[in-house]
Amino acid sequence: MCGIVGYVGSKPAVDILLDGLEQLEYRGYDSSGIAVKCDDAIKVYKAEGKLSNLKEELAPHAYEISKATMGIGHIRWATHGAPTVVNAHPHTCGCGKLVVVHNGIIENYKELKAKLEEKGCKFRSQTDTEVVAHLIASIYGEVKDLAKAVQLTTKQLEGAYALCIMHNDEPNKLVVTKRNAPLVIGVGENEYYVASDVPAIIKHTKKAIYLTDNQVATITPDSLKLEDVNEQELTPKIEVLPWEPVALSKMGYKHFMLKEIHEQPDVIRNILVGKLHTSDSPIVLNEVKLTRNTLKELNRIQIIACGTSLHAAMIGKYIIEDFCGIPVDVEASSEYIYRKTVTDSHTLVIGVSQSGETADTLTAIKQSKAKGSHILIITNRPDSAMAREADSLIPVSAGIEVSVAATKSYIAQLTSFYLLALYMAEIKGTMSEEDLNKIKSEMLLLPQKIEQILAHKENIQTCARKYSNTRDFIYIARGINYPTALEGALKLKEISYINATGYPAGELKHGPIAMLDETMPVLSVLMNGKVYEKLLSNSEEAKARNAKMIALTNSSDQKLDDLFDYIIRVPEVDELLSPIVAMVPLQLIAYYIAEFLGKDVDQPRNLAKSVTVE
Ligand code: AGP
Repeated sequence: MCGIVGYVGSKPAVDILLDGLEQLEYRGYDSSGIAVKCDDAIKVYKAEGKLSNLKEELAPHAYEISKATMGIGHIRWATHGAPTVVNAHPHTCGCGKLVVVHNGIIENYKELKAKLEEKGCKFRSQTDTEVVAHLIASIYGEVKDLAKAVQLTTKQLEGAYALCIMHNDEPNKLVVTKRNAPLVIGVGENEYYVASDVPAIIKHTKKAIYLTDNQVATITPDSLKLEDVNEQELTPKIEVLPWEPVALSKMGYKHFMLKEIHEQPDVIRNILVGKLHTSDSPIVLNEVKLTRNTLKELNRIQIIACGTSLHAAMIGKYIIEDFCGIPVDVEASSEYIYRKTVTDSHTLVIGVSQSGETADTLTAIKQSKAKGSHILIITNRPDSAMAREADSLIPVSAGIEVSVAATKSYIAQLTSFYLLALYMAEIKGTMSEEDLNKIKSEMLLLPQKIEQILAHKENIQTCARKYSNTRDFIYIARGINYPTALEGALKLKEISYINATGYPAGELKHGPIAMLDETMPVLSVLMNGKVYEKLLSNSEEAKARNAKMIALTNSSDQKLDDLFDYIIRVPEVDELLSPIVAMVPLQLIAYYIAEFLGKDVDQPRNLAKSVTVE
């Protein structure tokens, strides 16, 4: 989703802004732009599409803009108005002296626009953001102080925003503010950086200030003044960022997605260090701040999440219910926030999010917190807005995930759910020691099993090529792997744009079976365990309708050779842990199909990595 950058200092601003935008590309965007302060005017440049188009646009002006040492930049993921040059940010006020970049949605922009039009403002774009530029400029005309104009403006704005603003009459000054959208300020030596996310600043500085909602920062090369919207001065809290720039390299892989799939064995190892030592030692999960007594008495859990994180949550439900006997509800955050939810101080609410910034999940978390629930957040970003809402925080430590399609963060979320479920089961005494030890010893072997799959990925690549020429793809599974089927389908549709759907296999004959014929690939996630035979029968039913049958299995059953057209074998694993092992080939199938079809694997069309608007 949109990304903001800003710089004020003494270095050439254009390169810093463009590089910052490049580091935010993973968020997903469809146009871009920058504004820089030149000798006596602010110059604005914008382009549709990729950043390379903006660079082409800038090339003829290279000399003119090379001396600028202050500027703002933006990549836009269109919400209001098509992804055109005129709708791209930065947006200016009528006279062009004030420029704004914005991430979020101004919900009351229509009313504000009508009032500004009455005053004579002429609008050029269809965006909600242009309203902000005109409104600040109109207030600035009265108060002649940029920070004050921003403070007064924000009192009129409804919705979500991170804003970075500059004015030609206030040289060497950026004003930034935010509400329900991320914004970080990097602190350098006589220079400051502004960004929607850490990757845009990490190569310049590790010192940063996370702005909280309704704070306004006024930045010059050698000063930072932090205030609230009522001009009360606040003390900025400078933090040291726990990120390394090297994390953003593809390390020789063709795409970030492929690199991130290959990182998964180490991601699991890193999570287990310090938490699961041996099969017979208890799980250490100091991150859970609920007392043992509260955990013992806990009788209800709600998990809220979106997309891939929602699929991890569904598996979380399965294992918490299985291991601990606690009823768990799982719901898409976007649904949760618009109904009457029965949540109270006796409910543990778990929010799951790679980014920790997903607007729907953040809102849902805030709603439950207001009702007194204990909030446990499972996130890959311990520096995120959701993490700051947490009573208990389980950082999944997958390292920064650049590819829009989530892979390693999903495996990390699952691993964290297993640890949490085992931890609670130990405290509640709901599993036998033998069962606990069996799962724990198998968990310790998971990294090796994934390494075995990755070492023999050619078979998966061949399968992907064989079925890449299809318009539709069905994934079926039962029990604990039903969410695996959903996630496999989501991965494929996200990056290849093939219409892929996951079904609980028992539901096939209640409707979807009507779609089956010799053109339809059906992939069956067939793991040894209690639903194996049932799923085998469902696969027979699909075969009888001439579907092209693919098995993803850990079974050595000979009869599979007759039933399936293609078989991908994975190492043997306990059914309860099979979602982790089964997911890796499904990620690779999606990857190789998209790569074979020549799609933009890491930045699929229309998608954003951090969905910071509802
Ligand atoms: C995953 O591949 C997707 N890009 C998407 O579904 C994602 O999982 C969803 O937007 C939720 O994001 P979050 O985990 O950062 O909250």
